[in-house]
Amino acid sequence: MATLENKNAIITGAASGIGRASALAFAQAGAKLVLADINPLDDVVAQIEEAGGQAVGISGDGSDEGHVQELVETCCQRYGGLHVFFANAGMAGDFFPILDETRESWQRVLEVNLIGPFLAVKYGGAKIAEAGGGSIVLTASVAALRAAAGPAAYSASKAGVVSLAQVAASQLGDQGVRVNAICPGLIETGMTAPLFEYAKAAGREDRIGRYCPMQRAGQPEEIARVVLHLASDDASYLTGQAIAIDGGLCATHPFSPKSGS
Ligand SMILES: NC(=O)c1ccc[n+]([C@@H]2O[C@H](COP(=O)([O-])OP(=O)(O)OC[C@H]3O[C@@H](n4cnc5c(N)ncnc54)[C@H](O)[C@@H]3O)[C@@H](O)[C@H]2O)c1
Repeated sequence: MATLENKNAIITGAASGIGRASALAFAQAGAKLVLADINPLDDVVAQIEEAGGQAVGISGDGSDEGHVQELVETCCQRYGGLHVFFANAGMAGDFFPILDETRESWQRVLEVNLIGPFLAVKYGGAKIAEAGGGSIVLTASVAALRAAAGPAAYSASKAGVVSLAQVAASQLGDQGVRVNAICPGLIETGMTAPLFEYAKAAGREDRIGRYCPMQRAGQPEEIARVVLHLASDDASYLTGQAIAIDGGLCATHPFSPKSGS
């Protein structure tokens, strides 16, 4: 397994789903953590501490500039520097057709999903460069790569995250800062819970995720393992990429499950 011994990391959206699974994986790999979320983080911090790891939780809005600065300052003051920033907090927004979406809804989705990661790059990138280099991972989505995987504002915000990773990688590479985006497919988390609950209630659980080659949805731990690799020095020559972790969804034309399945 990749190691994060002697590395200090910030993870946003760490109270649930992909962020929480990544926090547990990072702690197991030896990282000292600053965890952030708009919701309380007591559970995940306690779980890490019970296992002998180090973590502090700071609740706040990931699109708030002062909050992101506080995360970076806390990590540097408490642990002596910053090596990894996983900017993962995100929201789906309204599930309306594009003609019914509002300016207000677009603005909020762009703030949380795109400006939050920009602030992570701006304030985290400077400190990671100061520490001699490291890794920034931004959570995009398969919705960044193809239409029909999410609402319009969500998809556009995630496409912006892919571009942000490319631009930041090109500008920070000479300072040893790698920047990559991950593009998860359908993963069972808090964000997708209503879909899973609806399918379970209708007795159609087996249909979830069947339109990708793996014919199933993913689990947050399957994303966390890739994020851990990107965060670690094992990925030392990997930067500027948008990595789909989607059971093959983006690799195929519209996909028909085998008959009978
Ligand atoms: N679940 C999927 O199928 C899927 C697919 C592709 C991308 N993603 C992305 O993965 C990321 C993590 O989502 P998840 O699926 O683990 O869902 P989740 O709901 O389980 O976790 C998201 C976390 O982000 C936090 N959050 C939301 N808005 C915030 C804000 N303004 N400031 C701080 N924290 C905030 C939530 O409180 C929550 O704890 C998101 O960026 C999401 O867009 C998810």
